[in-house]
Amino acid sequence: MPKEKKRQKILMIGAGGGREHALGWKISQSPRAGELFFARGNAGTAQLGINLDIKETETLKLIEFAKKEQIDLTLVVADDPLALGTVDEFRRAGLRVWGPTKAAAKLEWSKAFSKDFMRHHNLPTAKFEIFTDFDKAKKYVSEQAMPIVIKASGLAQGKGVVICGSKASAEKTLEDILVRKVFGESGNEVVIEEFLTGPEISIHAFSDGKNYKIFPSSQDHKKIGEGDTGLNTGGMGTIAPLPFVTADIMNKIEKEIVAPTLKGMADDGAPFEGVLYPGLMLTKDGPKILEYNARFGDPETQTYMRLLDSDLLDIIDATIDKKLNEVEIKWKKMSACTVMLASKGYPGNYEKGKVINLPPRLSGTPPQQGGEGNVVVFHSGTKMTRQDLVTNGGRVLGVSATGSDLTEALAKAYKAIDKISFDGMQYRKDIGKSTLEQG
Ligand code: AMP
Ligand code: GLY
Repeated sequence: MPKEKKRQKILMIGAGGGREHALGWKISQSPRAGELFFARGNAGTAQLGINLDIKETETLKLIEFAKKEQIDLTLVVADDPLALGTVDEFRRAGLRVWGPTKAAAKLEWSKAFSKDFMRHHNLPTAKFEIFTDFDKAKKYVSEQAMPIVIKASGLAQGKGVVICGSKASAEKTLEDILVRKVFGESGNEVVIEEFLTGPEISIHAFSDGKNYKIFPSSQDHKKIGEGDTGLNTGGMGTIAPLPFVTADIMNKIEKEIVAPTLKGMADDGAPFEGVLYPGLMLTKDGPKILEYNARFGDPETQTYMRLLDSDLLDIIDATIDKKLNEVEIKWKKMSACTVMLASKGYPGNYEKGKVINLPPRLSGTPPQQGGEGNVVVFHSGTKMTRQDLVTNGGRVLGVSATGSDLTEALAKAYKAIDKISFDGMQYRKDIGKSTLEQG
């Protein structure tokens, strides 16, 4: 297929985190990438393009900007703008846009919808019921075995899932969500489901609504504390590919989960275009779906972009043009990891504005593939003041490295971390450890 030579002006609508920096980093290596604009951005994306003073949820302003600047391609990569229907609005305005429609992204923004979808299409998931009424939910819980999992149906920044060890704590959780509305409107409905056990993994697939291409497997580490203890976070570190996810397991996941999900969405009139990211648990009865995300994961993306060998713009264009079957997606035959460095207090309250000491040789600014030791530091919550790089969020930096195996990649990332510091910096020292111990 002859390639169009024109450089594309690209707008990325996202959450201004490490995912957006990593996607921008990868895209800017494409010979067809022109100017990049980020809404929102961080100090990392500012090295690649222009951070706009428009929020990712200000759809009308974003459309106005895209028209005025003659943006060739807009990517919508975060959950909030997807749930608002940003993709639909851009399409309606006649703009070229990548990402799932509001109806397709409902797989993520309504857990009640996604669980009903799984039931309807016979997809493997935890047994569940959905409630809006506190008394009915309480009665149901009183008849179930403990522990039990209670989820606010709407988006709650990864905080809307509570694992309850006793009936008393389950009742209190239901009251918090349904009556006291601690998650606001997101908790108008709850999903109550069976507690599953097993290793948790992340699966990603590009989809054009008809064809799909699956990524290598990966794993996030969601808890703040080592040994998977403490509170849930946005994700403290990722590794890929997973040695324990064999080709047989991947085939099963593809046949039993990815393909039927995408077919189900198409059959139901909401074909999924973009990246589908199911979170799975490998239970003793096989892989089961914990949740769907309608976007790239963070920090999965930081790890994946280190492994992706093909031009991301080619894949994105093929998705929009529904020709994903015509592109070959190559992954480096290496291992990669990302270790997140977070602010003191995260995922609870934390302070911002701490000066970051980050040696410039560690940042992988294109055309360089990686900094020292092939390490790339992706920015999450960072910003530049007049003279300093400072912290500006809970998760601050993602230190990512590749290696011929996971041991090498992790050693490189941790070695680089020794050279980075800011007041109160915390990170998990055991990313990938349980996987390596499995042998
Ligand atoms: P979710 O946002 O639905 O992925 O849930 C957040 C986290 O809660 C997951 O990453 C799991 O660690 C945990 N979780 C969710 N559902 C279950 C379940 N049915 N059984 C056990 N753990 C779960
Ligand atoms: N890695 C967690 C998320 O992106 O939701």
